[in-house]
Amino acid sequence: MEGKIATNNDSESTTVKKDDRPQIESTTLWDYPKQSYGKTPKGNNKYAGVTPAFIIYNLIMRYTKSGDLVLDPMCGSGTTIDVCKEEGRKAIGYDIVPTRPDIIRNDARKLPLDDNSIDMIFIDSPYGDNIKYNEDPANFGELSAEDERFYEELEKTMAESSRVLKPGKVLGWLISDQWVKKKFTPVGFKIYERLCKYFDTVDIICVTRHNQSSNTGVWHYRAVKWNFYLRGFKYLFIMRKPMPGEEKPKDKTRVEWARYKR
Ligand SMILES: C[S@@+](CC[C@H](N)C(=O)[O-])C[C@H]1O[C@@H](n2cnc3c(N)ncnc32)[C@H](O)[C@@H]1O
Repeated sequence: MEGKIATNNDSESTTVKKDDRPQIESTTLWDYPKQSYGKTPKGNNKYAGVTPAFIIYNLIMRYTKSGDLVLDPMCGSGTTIDVCKEEGRKAIGYDIVPTRPDIIRNDARKLPLDDNSIDMIFIDSPYGDNIKYNEDPANFGELSAEDERFYEELEKTMAESSRVLKPGKVLGWLISDQWVKKKFTPVGFKIYERLCKYFDTVDIICVTRHNQSSNTGVWHYRAVKWNFYLRGFKYLFIMRKPMPGEEKPKDKTRVEWARYKR
């Protein structure tokens, strides 16, 4: 990016700058009332669970340079591919059920890529079984976020992502918690805990949720009447693959207790 970087703290800031490019975020609170920007669509805003293109734009502008190779192993309607193409990044998009010809059919638990070959990874995974993406039995969205298998299967994608990512490079993972049938599940914390086995934390972003089906008057009424909260935000975990020598100790099962004088 050339010249001054426009941030959302600039006095005349809006979410999109005059040249149709989004602002570069300067805080850990990101809020996008619409899914896309610019003259060409990024992904398909009719696709259930489509990612706000602004998020991917911000990640690639901060953590990649022109010509770098970006991977999205659960590419959905292809938002990552479209954002990357417009910014001169190369992109590989996989999905268990491809929605268009430039997305390759692949299960994210096994990536057909060399070790240390990718410059950045973005993942907006299913958050549980709240959205029916497709009928494929390998779709993570068939598993409930209350079931430990959901996290075990997603961890296979984390391990593969760590294998193919170049050391020192970044993975962004977007996820939301769940409140279903009077039960809260901290999906974000559970995903983060597993990500920490493979990656160091760069930062954690809070992304305002918009356009979900529960954002209606009747649901807001129910949330107050029955004393629960509607999900207002998603987590964006920005993680970094350690450099050689910085790797995490594997299976550190022995806990060393500290003793304190009474
Ligand atoms: C939240 S959507 C991704 C949205 C996408 N970023 C976009 O902007 O359109 C999650 C995607 O994960 C895909 N998926 C689920 N299980 C998968 C698996 N085992 N391997 C690859 N993709 C999978 C689903 O088909 C769905 O398209």
